[in-house]
Amino acid sequence: MDLTEHARKNRLYWDRQAASYQAEHGAQLATVALGWGVWSIPESELCVLGDVHGKDVLELGCGGAQWSIGLKQLGAQCVGLDNSERQLEFAREAINEAGLSIPLIHASAEAVPLPDESFDIVFCDHGAMSFADPALSVPEAARLLRPGGLLAFNAETPLHFICFDKARDRISTKLQSSYFDERVVDDQDGSVSFSLPYGEWIGLFKKSGFEIEDLVEIRPPAQATSTYRDWVSHEWARSWPAEQIWRLRRVKRATS
Ligand SMILES: C[S@@+](CC[C@H](N)C(=O)[O-])C[C@H]1O[C@@H](n2cnc3c(N)ncnc32)[C@H](O)[C@@H]1O
Repeated sequence: MDLTEHARKNRLYWDRQAASYQAEHGAQLATVALGWGVWSIPESELCVLGDVHGKDVLELGCGGAQWSIGLKQLGAQCVGLDNSERQLEFAREAINEAGLSIPLIHASAEAVPLPDESFDIVFCDHGAMSFADPALSVPEAARLLRPGGLLAFNAETPLHFICFDKARDRISTKLQSSYFDERVVDDQDGSVSFSLPYGEWIGLFKKSGFEIEDLVEIRPPAQATSTYRDWVSHEWARSWPAEQIWRLRRVKRATS
């Protein structure tokens, strides 16, 4: 499949942003290894992925591969995929520095050049599942997972999505747009991101062969700090969920 128009835009955007993104957030991402979201809540606390030792893991939108490096160090066989070659350059450098070997793939999560049922876990933390069209990326994740495999992804909540004041480029405490109609933000900065109403997420998961195991609504601890405070303030995120992690199980095939 050819790159979709929004994937082409996001590729240009992330190629342009990669250096400043890594300069601004790379230290937080590398220091708190396996930390979910903008407040780096430890995986050891949330237990979303569980025991990864010996598992085949695909990170969709791996950026600088900080997560894949952490998981590899826990004994997972990781593959990092990203739509931006510039982000992958940072990933390559970090993987070399860690003395590891992690295959990296330059492709969109909407059409992954890998065989069916290759992975036990497909996941991302504000990665491709935020920037790819869910109608393409969710079935694609299902295709890549073995029966019984886990899809987990952290992304912006619909609440944050509709409270974000685009004119002022900051979060607000008022509803700014339609919950039902606002699904794609084709931002003036050049990025394109997606969100769905809850009922539609659930319908899409079921249609794609997933069972919902959990929805983790992230609330930062009272003293949490973050390099992403231009996206959400600590005060806002203490009162409302800005990020959520879906935890989904690919349904096992019925035995005949
Ligand atoms: C906000 S960054 C997050 C990366 C990493 N998880 C982190 O926390 O730094 C989003 C990443 O998703 C990638 N991305 C966006 N759209 C994608 C797509 N369709 N397929 C694969 N990767 C994509 C971007 O290139 C970027 O590296």
